[in-house]
Amino acid sequence: FFGKKINVTFIDRRGENVEVKARPGDSILDTVIDNEIETEGYGICGGGIACSTCHIILEDTVFDKTLVEDPWGEEECDMLDNAPNVTDFSRLGCCVHFTKELEGITITIPEGQDMR
Ligand code: FES
Repeated sequence: FFGKKINVTFIDRRGENVEVKARPGDSILDTVIDNEIETEGYGICGGGIACSTCHIILEDTVFDKTLVEDPWGEEECDMLDNAPNVTDFSRLGCCVHFTKELEGITITIPEGQDMR
């Protein structure tokens, strides 16, 4: 039912490109964790919209596409207010799920708070 995997490129916190196959239906958070792209302090609330450490930055057109399946929630807005390096095309990785429309996108993981 989940259909074909899609190709996604992450730019990790060190600025390196990491190409992965993402399962439609999975959140960006789950995909980052499953592929061990960021482990240190990424998504520490486990997708509860309570930490903002899963902050990601999208390309503007991609940002608009994510709003179709996963519209803004008030909690997401509030959490992002606290995230460092937030942009107009920022979202929380736990609030956005892959769809086949997101084939080929690039997702930037900005520097986060120091969680140590
Ligand atoms: Fe904490 Fe997304 S994992 S807000």
